[in-house]
Amino acid sequence: METRELIGTRAASLEELREKGRIVVGLDGHTICLLAEGDEVYAVDNRCPHMGFPLHRGTVSDGILTCHWHHARFDLCTGGTFDQFADELRRFPVEVEGDDVYVDLTPRRDPVEHQRRRLQVGLERNISLVVAKAAIVLLEADPTGVDAFRRGLEFGARRRGDGWNRGLTTLTCFMNLVPRLQADEHAAALYHGLTDVALEAAGGEPRFPLEPLPGEADPEHLGRWFRNFIEVRDAEGAERALVSAVRAGATREQLADMLFTAATDHRYLEGGHTLDFVNKALEALDVAGWEHAEVVLASMAAPLAFSTRMEEANEWRNPVDLVALLEDAFGRLPEPGPGSWDGRAELVDTILDAEAAEILEALLQALRDGASAVELASAVTYAAAMRIARFPTTNEFGDWDTALHTFTFANGVEQGLRRAPSRELLRGVLDAAMSVHLDRFLNVPATRLPEPEDGHGVLTELPLLLDKQQRVDEAAKLVVSYRGEPEELIATLGACLLREDRNFHTIQCVEAAVRQHELLGDALPLIAAARYLAAHAPTDRSQRQTYDIARRLHRGENLYEEVA
Ligand code: FES
Repeated sequence: METRELIGTRAASLEELREKGRIVVGLDGHTICLLAEGDEVYAVDNRCPHMGFPLHRGTVSDGILTCHWHHARFDLCTGGTFDQFADELRRFPVEVEGDDVYVDLTPRRDPVEHQRRRLQVGLERNISLVVAKAAIVLLEADPTGVDAFRRGLEFGARRRGDGWNRGLTTLTCFMNLVPRLQADEHAAALYHGLTDVALEAAGGEPRFPLEPLPGEADPEHLGRWFRNFIEVRDAEGAERALVSAVRAGATREQLADMLFTAATDHRYLEGGHTLDFVNKALEALDVAGWEHAEVVLASMAAPLAFSTRMEEANEWRNPVDLVALLEDAFGRLPEPGPGSWDGRAELVDTILDAEAAEILEALLQALRDGASAVELASAVTYAAAMRIARFPTTNEFGDWDTALHTFTFANGVEQGLRRAPSRELLRGVLDAAMSVHLDRFLNVPATRLPEPEDGHGVLTELPLLLDKQQRVDEAAKLVVSYRGEPEELIATLGACLLREDRNFHTIQCVEAAVRQHELLGDALPLIAAARYLAAHAPTDRSQRQTYDIARRLHRGENLYEEVA
């Protein structure tokens, strides 16, 4: 007699299954729901792939199994879902021999590749839980986070018709923070960034990328044309020049120079955001790899072309015409010095307190006295951080954003000068100083910087402070009084940030402050970050709740039983 090898493990008696209609069995660590429907027998994972509802309590009709919790539907034959917020239902091959039902438990799909596809679904359809589940698995496979980051970057840069904006900036800020966070928060950081990319892309106009010019083109010409196209707000022409420059082999420095020059040809574009976006796009390429430059940098053309120019803003024209003062100063810009200049503290005071013309003269004098471009930029960034560190809560709440814009712009200019110094970008330092000056009444009366005090620097107190509204000064006191490793303070600030619902500006503030702290070894930027974070906490924390659901499901915890 011919014998054949049966697949899998015996799971149940066919007669018993037909009698009961469905049976739940535990096999090799799986909880499996066996279903007898007509002549067929099916075996599926009993946990709904959405949030774990026990599927033996679902309903089968016309070959479709419906989960009762959120009504996701699954084809029993293939396990495929009709509801993308869920996932494919894991089904197991079944064989029947006599009265015995056998189930094949052999793992079949590559979970990492599967979650890469699911990440794409989550991004396209803006489904946070799907993104969270994918981020957790992808970060396990690649703890650097680069794989997940790269996928979000590509999606956002290709997808959004209006180009680079908040979502990709959030994603890049979080990616920059990842190495500074506790390991178990890395996936949460990517989740926040990726979901912001998805949210921003949802429902927007799609982007149709342009091909580079056919044939050879000279990067130098392309750079000049790009600048002229941005000047006349021709985003299409600018995008073609930019992608052609990438394809023509322009160096990273040339590309950065093209973008930063266009970003400083007019004053303080879009309240400072546009230059910060340029800086973040370049930082994103440093992480993801410059082979993505064409698609990523192409997304900068529209923001550069269509940004509001502060020449058009009343506060930059009246009562003092700052634009005219700046144009005059640009015409007299000396060559930056070699560095190791010692006038920093005095210059910071001048930027914070003096009138506009006097500030500009002090900046030019600092260059003549030997300040390098980066040293000058760093002094202005420090003054901008001081505005936040001394921001009194008597201001209107929205004023925090004004001070924040100046700080992130100044930081972006400084990072740009470290990457690709130029006389054109140096103009951004003077713009940033004028913005610090415009913000001066946001420091009236200036809050005093707190004195360190024993017993006030306990890191575990920070999350408790941020459970209550407006503990701004207490948060600053804690930072000043903290005596431990700065890395632990930064990781704690990061963990507190990740508890809250997305606030683009808070994310920018913390990220820029961490960068400044690391460059200067000075606590002031972290005081600014803690105060800003405290002013914007607590939120509903609904986004973190979604992430925590994904994490619990990933660990195999049973969500449904606990809420039943
Ligand atoms: S649809 Fe099944 S748990 Fe949500």
